[in-house]
Amino acid sequence: MRLCLCVCTMVQTVVVLCLIIQHIHCAVVSNSELDIKTDDNFDWRNYGVITPVSDQGQLGSAMDFVIAEEVESLYAIKTKTKAILLSRNEVADCCDNPDTHQPIFDGFGCIEAIGGLCSDSTYKSHTGKCQNNTCTPIGKVTGTGYIPTGREDFMKKVIHIAPIAAWIDASQSSFQIYTSGIYSDPRCSSTQLDHAVQIVGYGTEAGVDYWTVKNSWGAGWGEQGYMRIQRGQNMCGIATLAFYPIEK
Ligand SMILES: *[C@@H]1O[C@H](CO)[C@@H](O)[C@H](O)[C@H]1NC(C)=O
Repeated sequence: MRLCLCVCTMVQTVVVLCLIIQHIHCAVVSNSELDIKTDDNFDWRNYGVITPVSDQGQLGSAMDFVIAEEVESLYAIKTKTKAILLSRNEVADCCDNPDTHQPIFDGFGCIEAIGGLCSDSTYKSHTGKCQNNTCTPIGKVTGTGYIPTGREDFMKKVIHIAPIAAWIDASQSSFQIYTSGIYSDPRCSSTQLDHAVQIVGYGTEAGVDYWTVKNSWGAGWGEQGYMRIQRGQNMCGIATLAFYPIEK
């Protein structure tokens, strides 16, 4: 067993650096994951396990949305049902840290600690205070899998288990005004990460490999709320701090 211990506190850049170190040390590639067969194209949206695109508005951080999306997708995959909306407000109230505005770096550990995530219709309002005893949790998590930093080849296999959560750099204006196509911008950083997305699939178009990512800026942004982002160059740090939930 590996001991993964890294105290990630203080300002965001320190947290990110610390997390990169943690990923390098903690991400263990197992044989069963390496045995996964990949395809030319793959998209979890074709399996009914992805909920409609959200608009995060003023609520918390994008990672609050991504954590909820990851748990609802995993639950749908495990139970072979269509994904239902789980509570972003519960993630924000219970797992984000409103005092320090730190990014949540152990989102799935928190979901496990609070006993799972309730549906969006049963845990409604965002109060800033965790009220996990007011509803019945649906989506459960028992662990976190980490993508070794930069290993997009491994990520392509693991995504067949479940969609993947990733911190990315979304600070370039080219990112913010993206409308369609395969996004690539050499100014996009692989270490200054300020946003989060859910990676739902991959493919190749006209010889260019891409990841398909779900954003939380409404369905009017990008390709119906999604972006295809170049794959194979750790574009915008998509494989720098990527992880996924596990439920045994
Ligand atoms: C709510 O979360 C706390 C940890 O913050 C946990 O001890 C408790 O069991 C949870 N309650 C329910 C009903 O799951």
